[in-house]
Amino acid sequence: MLGEDEMREPIKKFTKMLHGGDYNPDQWLDYPEILIQDIELMKKAHVNCVSLGIFAWATLEPEEGIYQFDWLEEIINNLYNEGIYTVLATPTGAMPNWLTEKYEEVRQVRDNGARNLHGARHNFCFTSPIMREKARNINTALAERFGNHPGVILWHISNELGGNGNDSSCHCPLCQAAFRDWLKNKYKTLDALNHAWWTKFWSQAYTSWDQIHSPVPNGLTTVHGLNLDWKRFVTAQMVDFYKEECNIVKKYSKDIPVTTNMMGFFKCLDYFKFKDSLDIVSWDSYPSWHEEKNDIDVAIYTAASHNLMRGIKKQPFLLMESTPSLVNWKVNNTLKRPNMHMLSSMQAVAHGSNSVQYFQWRKSRGASEKLHGAVVDHYGKEDTRVFKDVTEVGCRLENLTESIYKTINKPKVAIIVDWENWWAIDDACGVNNSDMKYIDTVVNHYKPFWKMGIDVDFIDMDTDISEYKLVVAPMTYMIKEKFGEDVKVFVENGGCFVSSYWSGIVNETDLCFLGGFPGIIGEVVGIRSEEIDAINEYYPNSISYKNKSYEVNDLCDLIHLQGAKAEAFYEKDFYKGMPALTRNQYGSGIAYYIAARTENEFNEEFYSNIVNEIGIEKNINVNLPYGVTVSKRCGEEDDLLFVQNFNSEPVSFELDRQYENAEDGTVVSGRLELTAYDCLILKDKK
Ligand code: GLA
Ligand code: GLA
Repeated sequence: MLGEDEMREPIKKFTKMLHGGDYNPDQWLDYPEILIQDIELMKKAHVNCVSLGIFAWATLEPEEGIYQFDWLEEIINNLYNEGIYTVLATPTGAMPNWLTEKYEEVRQVRDNGARNLHGARHNFCFTSPIMREKARNINTALAERFGNHPGVILWHISNELGGNGNDSSCHCPLCQAAFRDWLKNKYKTLDALNHAWWTKFWSQAYTSWDQIHSPVPNGLTTVHGLNLDWKRFVTAQMVDFYKEECNIVKKYSKDIPVTTNMMGFFKCLDYFKFKDSLDIVSWDSYPSWHEEKNDIDVAIYTAASHNLMRGIKKQPFLLMESTPSLVNWKVNNTLKRPNMHMLSSMQAVAHGSNSVQYFQWRKSRGASEKLHGAVVDHYGKEDTRVFKDVTEVGCRLENLTESIYKTINKPKVAIIVDWENWWAIDDACGVNNSDMKYIDTVVNHYKPFWKMGIDVDFIDMDTDISEYKLVVAPMTYMIKEKFGEDVKVFVENGGCFVSSYWSGIVNETDLCFLGGFPGIIGEVVGIRSEEIDAINEYYPNSISYKNKSYEVNDLCDLIHLQGAKAEAFYEKDFYKGMPALTRNQYGSGIAYYIAARTENEFNEEFYSNIVNEIGIEKNINVNLPYGVTVSKRCGEEDDLLFVQNFNSEPVSFELDRQYENAEDGTVVSGRLELTAYDCLILKDKK
């Protein structure tokens, strides 16, 4: 049982590392013995928090306006009495039959004009006034009843917003009307919109707002400004729906923070636009461990995803879902090898998570997730490998709670990942129309930092960059005006900026910059890009950099120096001898431009030189072995260093100095031995 004082201040309970996951007792109400057993097992697994009610709308409101909450109250109470907190969901992730049957408008319309039938999750129209009303009603009732329950510590708004398997959008008449209103508000006049979208192209000029329709395959898809604004609208409308849910629950429970579980590099929604209405970021991480010969690339992609989620608010986040063993929706669902559950859980923590939560606590007995990994298997007991793995994570988090939960990563390096740029790049119809590899490129520029053990924030173009020493902006095809200004000031004041090919091509409504690329950053980088070449196996190229040759792929920018100095040159073809990497002193800072898509070997060399040049410290000052990285969470007194080995083999390396093991207090120095998939946590005393 928890103490009296704790019961009066529910928000305080949020100050510990959370361990638990999605719990669906609504599926088991006819099995009271299972519900009793669940709590016993949770205690054994050191679970201190579960997410309730995520898809329970039909059980909570079996008929329109008839609420049945007693079962939920009993569960929340039983959990609370055992010291287990509740993350309470609003149930809009899945709609009940009575709702979709009675009110057709709540169901989404696809881009082919067909309205969805009842069934799938995430099938609601975010514009529908009826959907908003029904959501408001149940959320009000839930918040009134549980909004001040001492066991409830966080609201979980809906579930994986936009995850409908399409493009997150709904093309119904209500959404069309809302889109037009959104455009009117943005452009004020049709003339302004027609110019911004360049609609004289193919006679597309609008003479009435009513002519505007969302981009659909049997309609207009070639006006990029329209496509881009539609995607922006979809995000804005989803944020608006989300905010309405937040406002209701907050009205009745002022002290309980809100979140919604995100999905990392999920293309359909610009997560940065949720920033101001999230108290804490949370996300669901399902890396494909063991699907490749080694796990290093998966580890780096996962690390990048964690950084992106942390970057939204630059605060600790929550790992809201992860699988304790395997998922059931990949082609081939491989079990986590020994130690991998601990390592991948600690990786999330290393990058800023204050929780390790699972999907799911217990496997549902039937339907499509009955074979998805869970803490509790159909077997129903604790003597399983997975249960043991989970318990170990729970114990470890419990022991680390005090030292970790107030710490956070504070990188000096930022990489720009911008959703609007991502959408625009993939729509461009230009030099390559199969795969411009934007996210792959961003992650490739992160790789060298991961390998050096240097933390990196992933931020969008709207985020303040002034606090960083180095900002890397690969493929900023679309450059937002304010970002262009920020970069100028940043470099002028001594910052280091790295840009690349395929940058500064269009403005925010996808109109090309006149007067030469890379548009508004041209002056800072001191070059002009004249043409870009899509190379292939018959026209290979390479560049020479500091007397070494490096292959380049896919894209080669043909650039002219306009103040910058060349540091690398093309080695082949008709542009042999032209600059391939440039460096421009601007104000008291430096701006680099990488003209071709370079491979890892070059990136490692280049970024290692930059790190030395501008003095960015590695988290541990050594050359780490392959597959090993170090992340740092900074505290007021001590910093915590997470040394992670993603190799399936043991490795060792010589430490630069003496540290303390953060968990047992022993001195760590000399040669550090790491077992396969090991994670050691060291204390770096300030
Ligand atoms: C065709 C069309 C042109 C133009 C070109 C592009 O030839 O007639 O309007 O679209 O393709 O290659
Ligand atoms: C998502 C959903 C969960 C569950 C898992 C399965 O993350 O939010 O409800 O379906 O996938 O991996």
